[in-house]
Amino acid sequence: MSGPKPAGRAAVLISGGGSNLQALIDRASDGDLPLDISIVISNRPGVRGLERAATAGIETACIEHGDYASREEFDNALADCIAAHTPDVIILAGFMRILTAGFVNRFSGRILNIHPSLLPAYPGLHTHQRVLEAGDEVHGCTVHVVTAELDAGPAIIQGRVPVQVDDDPATLAARVLKVEHQVYPIAAGLVASGRVVVDGERVLLDGKVLDAPLIYDGEAAAGYTIPG
Ligand code: GRF
Repeated sequence: MSGPKPAGRAAVLISGGGSNLQALIDRASDGDLPLDISIVISNRPGVRGLERAATAGIETACIEHGDYASREEFDNALADCIAAHTPDVIILAGFMRILTAGFVNRFSGRILNIHPSLLPAYPGLHTHQRVLEAGDEVHGCTVHVVTAELDAGPAIIQGRVPVQVDDDPATLAARVLKVEHQVYPIAAGLVASGRVVVDGERVLLDGKVLDAPLIYDGEAAAGYTIPG
């Protein structure tokens, strides 16, 4: 039987504003992204991202980390909630909790994260401030596969932005966030459609090992476009 491939099922994990979640919702509802977001889970109650999901008619859950005695217990509750929705891909979109190796191994190769730097440069927090302090001319974001080591899993795509002389951390963060909204749907689409496959520490695109992440330089450049 032919016809369009069914959309990949996704669970999206958030902790806050959810603008990346919104970008995914918008691309999926435009029909540009073969993704069926079946659950949005926040570890914080009352955040804007939960409202965005509810407005889009997506089921939500709030699992507060403070309600659990240990990181393992929280991760187990989170993992059970996710597993009940049988997602093909788990998308961390501003989810501000470090996940245990047990969690990562349970969904091995199926968890994506977006990090606001050109990894491996600047893992961790305060990336925009650190880029400005270093005097870098280019900054950006990376969508990578989550492994047990923080911000270290194989990268799928990076979005680049120029650093301007009058930037402060807020202006730079806003410029990076705009490109996050472009690259996360691209990466999610590649994974959901099966074009990107994770094999241990390697990422394969259309069956070929990706030696370096795809680069997105913006609409006007010869940047990466959403594959058909
Ligand atoms: C993004 O900058 C993301 O890279 C970082 O947290 C922010 C989330 O923004 N990890 P939002 O919640 O998607 O608006």
